[in-house]
Amino acid sequence: MDAIECIKGRMSIRKFKPDPVPQEVLARVIDAARFSPSYKNSQPWNVAVVSGDKKKALSDLLVKLLEEGKEPCPDIPAPESWPDPEASRIAELFRKRKEATGIDLAAPEMVRKAKKANFQFYGAPHGLFLYQHSSLSQWSIFDIGLFAQSLMLVAYAEGLGTVPQAFVTDYARDVKEFLGIPEDMRLVLGMSIGWPDMDSPANAMRTDRAPVEEILSWHQ
Ligand SMILES: Cc1cc2nc3c(=O)[nH]c(=O)nc-3n(C[C@H](O)[C@H](O)[C@H](O)COP(=O)(O)O)c2cc1C
Repeated sequence: MDAIECIKGRMSIRKFKPDPVPQEVLARVIDAARFSPSYKNSQPWNVAVVSGDKKKALSDLLVKLLEEGKEPCPDIPAPESWPDPEASRIAELFRKRKEATGIDLAAPEMVRKAKKANFQFYGAPHGLFLYQHSSLSQWSIFDIGLFAQSLMLVAYAEGLGTVPQAFVTDYARDVKEFLGIPEDMRLVLGMSIGWPDMDSPANAMRTDRAPVEEILSWHQ
């Protein structure tokens, strides 16, 4: 698969087959992601993979916290507002997602439902958590984002599906305690990974992108 095909073909997967991915395949994907660039080659990334009974116990814990109404406290706060044009793009995503799946992410009850599906890793056999030391600068958050993209692209080239998930960092402290990640680490991103169930309507929707003219200016 060439790079352009890989970048354009990847999409967020929200329904997985239950079959586990062999550990050597997951290891190969994470191994390749290490070759991402980073500020001064600092490589500010760590990965925790959770599977099997442990994954089920973590999902149960997160769903319990949600149902108890525990206030989310992610290490990277969720944005409270968005400027344009980003705000309009989000509105368009919500509109399209509601049309395709009936899930209205602007409705609080739907958000709870969506969070529950996130906490269950959309049925994926494995969840990943990306984390780094909390004292690292914003550049390191940028770097771990590059790592996440490499990981998702290699996974896609291996026939796997992924979805990056901010929601699963809602109860960062609990996740870190559960996985034995030191408290002074910043939980940046969660991710579901597994074999995609492409027959599911949950995976039928493709997201749009703004035309290139909207984001590009030439200077000569
Ligand atoms: C940092 C980040 C956090 C995200 N958090 C979530 C999430 O919590 N749950 C979810 O279902 N999708 C999440 N997504 C997936 C985005 O909704 C998705 O990438 C975007 O709509 C573009 O669609 P695509 O990935 O199919 O190209 C996240 C993506 C990123 C990059």
